[in-house]
Amino acid sequence: MRGTGLMAALMAAGLLVMQAAAASAAEAPIPRLVHQDGRHALFVNDAPYVILGAEVNNSSGWPSQLPQVWPAIDYLHANTVLMPVYWEQFEAQPGQYDYSVVDTLLAQARAHQVHLILLWFGTWKNGSPHYVPEWIKLAGDRYPRVQDRFGHPIDALSPFGTATLEADKRAFGALMHHLKAADPQRTVLMVQVENETGNYGALRDYSPAAEQLYTAPVPADVLAAMAVQPTVAAPTWQQAFGADSEVFFNAWAVSRYVGQVAAAGKAEYPLPLFANAALRDPIKPGAPGSYESGGPIDNVIPIWKLNAPALDLLGPDVYAPDLPTYRKQLDLYGRADNALFLPETGGSPRFLFFVLGHGGIGFAPFGIDFTRTPVYPDAARPREESLTPWSRTGTKEFVAPFEPLYRLFAPMAPELARLNFEGRLQATGEEQGRLTQTLHFGAWDALVSYGVWARNGAPMGNPQPIGAALVGQLADNQFLVSGFHARIDFRPVRPELQRQFLRVEEGTYENGSFRFQRVLNGDQTDGGLDFFADPLVLRVSLASY
Ligand code: DGJ
Repeated sequence: MRGTGLMAALMAAGLLVMQAAAASAAEAPIPRLVHQDGRHALFVNDAPYVILGAEVNNSSGWPSQLPQVWPAIDYLHANTVLMPVYWEQFEAQPGQYDYSVVDTLLAQARAHQVHLILLWFGTWKNGSPHYVPEWIKLAGDRYPRVQDRFGHPIDALSPFGTATLEADKRAFGALMHHLKAADPQRTVLMVQVENETGNYGALRDYSPAAEQLYTAPVPADVLAAMAVQPTVAAPTWQQAFGADSEVFFNAWAVSRYVGQVAAAGKAEYPLPLFANAALRDPIKPGAPGSYESGGPIDNVIPIWKLNAPALDLLGPDVYAPDLPTYRKQLDLYGRADNALFLPETGGSPRFLFFVLGHGGIGFAPFGIDFTRTPVYPDAARPREESLTPWSRTGTKEFVAPFEPLYRLFAPMAPELARLNFEGRLQATGEEQGRLTQTLHFGAWDALVSYGVWARNGAPMGNPQPIGAALVGQLADNQFLVSGFHARIDFRPVRPELQRQFLRVEEGTYENGSFRFQRVLNGDQTDGGLDFFADPLVLRVSLASY
C-alpha cells in the first residue's frame, strides 16, 4: 500500500512538473513597444507586428453579438480586433468582477486566430460616464460629476472624484490581473485605458475643490513639460496659458486620473497601454469649447506624457475626410516620443497607406462587424462628404472598401512591420493636383505617377485621387512594390545611369514570405509597373547601365 501510495505521489508530482513545463512553454513573450532611432514597433512574439485592426461597434462586445462580428473580421482579413470591455458588465456589483465575457472574447479570438486589443470603457466613454456600473451612476455624492461654471452637474464624472478613481483603479487592475493569468498566449496585445477622455459641455470642473487647484500656481513640472518661460513667479494656470488655460488644466486633471488607472493595471500585468483622443481640427483649431476638453489632444500631449507614463502611446482617432487634415494628424501624433497608432479611423481606406508611410504601427477602421448597428440614422448625415457612411456601420457595404487593402496587406504584414521598423518602407498616395511623387532609397529613386494611360504617356492624375503606392527596400537593388491605381518605376540617383529590370516577379505572401508566381515582362513592364484596383505584389530586382 505504502509503495503504491509513494508511486502515485511521485507520478502526481511528475505530472505537475510536466504541466508546469507545458504552461511555461505555451507562455509567449509579453508584447512590448520598442523604440529605435526615432522609429517604433510593437513587438509580438519578439518580432515587429503591424496592427491591421478592426474596431467593432460600441454595443458589439457582448457574446450574443459575436456571431455577427467574426464573419466581418474574417472577410476583412484583419489580424487584430479592438473590442470594448464594459465596466457596467465587468463589475455590476461592487467588488464582484465577472470575467465571463472577457474569457469568451479570448476563446473566440483564438479560435479565429486573431489578436485582441481591449478597450476599457470605464469612467470615460466619449467624455461621458455611460458605461460605469449603476451603483456609480446612482451615487452622485460619492462619485461626483463635473460642475459647470453655474455649479450644475454635467454628463461627465469629475477627475477629482477620489472614490471614482479608486473604484476604476481597482476594476481595471482586476481586469489586467485576470488577463495575466488567462492569457499566456498573449491573444491580447494592448489595452486602451478609458475611451476619448475629457468632457463636453464645460471646459473643466468648477467645483470648489477644482477651483482651488485652478487658481493655485501651475505645478513646476507642467511648466517645464510645456516649455513655458513664466513672466511672473509661480504663475497660475490663467497666467501661464491664457485662453487655453482651462483646457490645459482639465488635461492635467484627467491625465493624472488616467495615469493612475493605467499604473494600477500595469502593476498587475505590464502589457502596452494607451489612451485615444477625440481630436480638434489641427489646421484651423476652433476656440476652447469647440472640441472635447481634457483628453490627449495635440496641444496637451506633453502634459499627458508627464502625468501618465504608464501609457505607452497616445492614439488619435482620425476621421478626417480630407487628406491634408488626415496627414496633419499623423504628423502631430507620429513623434519620436509617441508611436503612431490610430485606434479608430474612418475616411478613405487608402489613407492607411499614409499611416504606414509615417512609420505607423497600425490602424483600425471603426464600425467593423455585421451587426447592422448604425452610428447615426441616414437623415442625420444627408451629405456623403465623409467617406465614412455612418448610417451603414456594421454592414458588408461599410466594410467592403477596406477589404482589398487588407487583402493586400495581411499576408505581408510581418514584412511590412519589419521594413517599417528598419526605416526601409515608404508608402504614399495621390494628392489632388499632384501627378508624381518621388521616394528616395539610397542609390535608387522610386517614381510614382498617377493616371498614366499609355506606355510612355504623361501622368494626368486619376479622375478622383484614388492612387496609392508602397515600396520597401529588400536589398540594395531589390524592392517590394505594390499599390493601387498608380504607376511605379525606378531611376538610379546618378544621372548618367539608366535602370533595367533584371526580374519583375509577381507573387503572393504566405506566412510572411514572398512566393513567386510568374515573371512579368513585355507589355506588363515596358512602361513601368502598373497597379490597378486589384491587390498586386511585385518583387523587383534592378540593375543600372
Ligand atoms: C468615437 C468613439 O471613441 C467610438 O467609441 C465611437 O463612438 C465613434 N466615435 C463613432 O461614433
